[in-house]
Amino acid sequence: TGLLTGKHLLITAGPTQENIDPVRYITNHSSGKMGFALAEAAAEAGARVTLVTGPVFLPTPDRVQRIDVVSARDMLAACEAAMPCDILIAAAAVADYRPEVVAPHKLKKDPTTGDGLLLQMVRNPDILATLASRADRPFCVGFAAETENLLEYATRKLRDKNLDLIVANDVANPSIGFNSEDNAVSVIDRQQHETRFGQASKGHIARALVAFIADRYKES
Ligand code: PMT
Repeated sequence: TGLLTGKHLLITAGPTQENIDPVRYITNHSSGKMGFALAEAAAEAGARVTLVTGPVFLPTPDRVQRIDVVSARDMLAACEAAMPCDILIAAAAVADYRPEVVAPHKLKKDPTTGDGLLLQMVRNPDILATLASRADRPFCVGFAAETENLLEYATRKLRDKNLDLIVANDVANPSIGFNSEDNAVSVIDRQQHETRFGQASKGHIARALVAFIADRYKES
């Protein structure tokens, strides 16, 4: 404890929800457990913590300021409002695309189009890349949830989003990814050096990650 005293940490968690119409949305399987565990560990380490989260069913950790959002665009706005911060940890599973238009009324089945429905989607902003390109850029830690080519794709995201560290999470394994109790990750730095954290509870992994991140932040 005390490792992060006086530092402001901004942490994103959970899924985002992208509305299709007033009753339907697109989302993913993130439960928020990893991001909430990180927020708890960072608060235990003495940091002031802002936790921006999509819709999840979790209690707020002690001494953490929680901001609830729904969509990726809401999440970006909440993060921008919470800036500046010293360290950003992006554990949220943000929807890459959203429906181009949100229908004002519940969509009805259309007898003229047969059995199909075409939904036009557009790109969402990248929250992590946006914050990493600001003049007051924090120390940036991303996550990479992948089902194949884990280290290659994670390294590419580290470079493309201009991050300091990326936490590679193999979500093909159901015991260590979305909505699981445990996790196992590899952290990759800009020199492509890999540090492994073997399977343990998300609370355990979070405390180890926060200690590692605090260390690297101080060296930076
Ligand atoms: O919530 P849990 O059930 O505990 O599950 C944890 C987790 C699997 C969600 C978590 O460990 C994890 O891997 N989170 C990142 C999931 C993800 O969607 O990664 P990505 O590869 O799509 O995105 C890469 C990075 O960019 C992430 O840090 C993400 O937060 C960020 N991003 C992505 C898209 C976007 N529009 N904005 C972003 O900020």
